[in-house]
Amino acid sequence: MENKQIAIPHFGEPDVLAIQYTQIPQPQKGEVLVKVAFASVNPIDVKTRAGLGWAAAQNKDNLPWVPGYDISGSVIECGEATEKFDLGDKVAGFIGFPLQGGGYSQYVTVPESSLSRVPEAVTLEAAAALPLAGQTAIQALDKVSVQEGQRVLILAGAGGVGHIAVQLAVAAKAEVFTTCGESNLDYMATLGAHAINYRFAPVSERVEEADALIDLVGGDAALDALKCLKDNAKVVTVPTLSAELICEKAKLLGFEATGMLVDPNREQLDAMLYLVSVGMLKAEIYQIYPMDQVVEAHKQMETGHTRGKILLDMQC
Ligand SMILES: NC(=O)c1ccc[n+]([C@@H]2O[C@H](COP(=O)([O-])OP(=O)(O)OC[C@H]3O[C@@H](n4cnc5c(N)ncnc54)[C@H](OP(=O)(O)O)[C@@H]3O)[C@@H](O)[C@H]2O)c1
Repeated sequence: MENKQIAIPHFGEPDVLAIQYTQIPQPQKGEVLVKVAFASVNPIDVKTRAGLGWAAAQNKDNLPWVPGYDISGSVIECGEATEKFDLGDKVAGFIGFPLQGGGYSQYVTVPESSLSRVPEAVTLEAAAALPLAGQTAIQALDKVSVQEGQRVLILAGAGGVGHIAVQLAVAAKAEVFTTCGESNLDYMATLGAHAINYRFAPVSERVEEADALIDLVGGDAALDALKCLKDNAKVVTVPTLSAELICEKAKLLGFEATGMLVDPNREQLDAMLYLVSVGMLKAEIYQIYPMDQVVEAHKQMETGHTRGKILLDMQC
């Protein structure tokens, strides 16, 4: 048996992505071997494949490189000194972040401490959608310390990070405003947010006196959104490319502003899996592509208009 993986042999367009076969890895001390059911696709995978950003810079001499940070699947072998899982247990995790990646594989070895158990009531599809995007959402909400009754503006509420951030902010009893295109207005309303069509008018014409901004778009959209905030509001800007500019401008206007880099945190994934299991959180899956169609999956991600998450089915 071999390990079928999707690799970046050299940086470029989506069609550089190639299937490769390697040996199935052996779990080391403290690790388990996971047969991956689903891997999710994140914007960072697409940027790295194109040769952009720090993950590409760090791995440029390390190609072919296997991307992927989100996995769900089953434990099929337990290494020495492991105790948390039995064979067949369903697990999910945010793995190999930021430099190692490796999630676009049929088999991966993972320290058992970085894996969460997937509850019976949660599908492996939902479990694969949550790790990177969901933890980004939680950590962004933490940075602006969203409180009950506050007015929170979330740019791009329909995306991978945004749809989780909207649901968690609504659950925290904040009044949530979010931007999206026309086709997502109803979807955002069903999640409990006031949805604003960003193509119709700048958000600054529609929202005022917000206590916090969670920016998932960056650039001009974020600069405009600063006009929606009240004095002493808090800002977190998540896209790394424009973070410095947005923070600088926000601070000049008297706001507390920060960028962020998501930090893998298993407890946060445990908490989201629990919320999904009791019906308080829903992972939206836009489409599942067989792993052989990863090029199409990357092309879809590059449109910038995916609702929720894209998954790769790693066993077909
Ligand atoms: N710093 C970190 O640690 C970190 C972690 C995760 C993600 N990120 C970054 O954060 C950003 C969001 O990530 P993601 O995974 O949520 O991306 P995503 O899933 O690709 O976001 C897609 C969504 O963006 C919406 N959108 C596009 N342009 C918009 C605009 N001008 N205004 C409002 N919404 C717009 C689309 O909605 P419509 O179709 O309705 O337009 C779509 O639903 C990316 O830049 C990503 O690289 C950074």
